[in-house]
Amino acid sequence: MPALLVLYHSQEYGNTQAMAEAVAEGAKAAGADVTLVNTHETRPDMEQYRACGAVAFGSPDYYSYIAGGLKVFLDDWHIAKKANKSGLVDKPYGLFYSHGGGGAVRGPLEKLFGKCGVKVGETVESKGAPNAGVLEKCRELGRQLAAQA
Ligand SMILES: Cc1cc2nc3c(=O)[nH]c(=O)nc-3n(C[C@H](O)[C@H](O)[C@H](O)COP(=O)(O)O)c2cc1C
Repeated sequence: MPALLVLYHSQEYGNTQAMAEAVAEGAKAAGADVTLVNTHETRPDMEQYRACGAVAFGSPDYYSYIAGGLKVFLDDWHIAKKANKSGLVDKPYGLFYSHGGGGAVRGPLEKLFGKCGVKVGETVESKGAPNAGVLEKCRELGRQLAAQA
């Protein structure tokens, strides 16, 4: 069964979490086994990343940058990769983010996670709480990732 990791940070209103859950919904409907991890609640586990076939990364815009929990993941990932741990590179990945009206995090988000593998689909954006159209884009991203996982 394809395995998708949805790794996100959500803390303030649950906006990014609602997007993560929609990505998971789409992936599950396409037959994937999905693990949701909120970096506000737990430090990401590199083994979970190693085990998945594809990954969705989601962040709120924090000062035009990604949330700290996702930065911690990238730091851990880079160090593990340098140590030649296998299974850490070239994963299909998708991106989503929420913001309060600025949204300049898109640049750093796409640049930083561009190191991790091959991008699938379009980056999904939400200003504030995701509306029905945004949630459908998230479900579609989940379906696309499930097909690549
Ligand atoms: C510490 C902090 C910094 C923020 N900085 C920005 C920002 O620079 N630009 C922006 O558009 N929104 C900014 N926001 C708004 C959040 O990105 C927005 O409310 C987001 O949807 C919250 O996601 P969440 O409900 O999943 O935690 C900031 C919020 C916080 C808490």
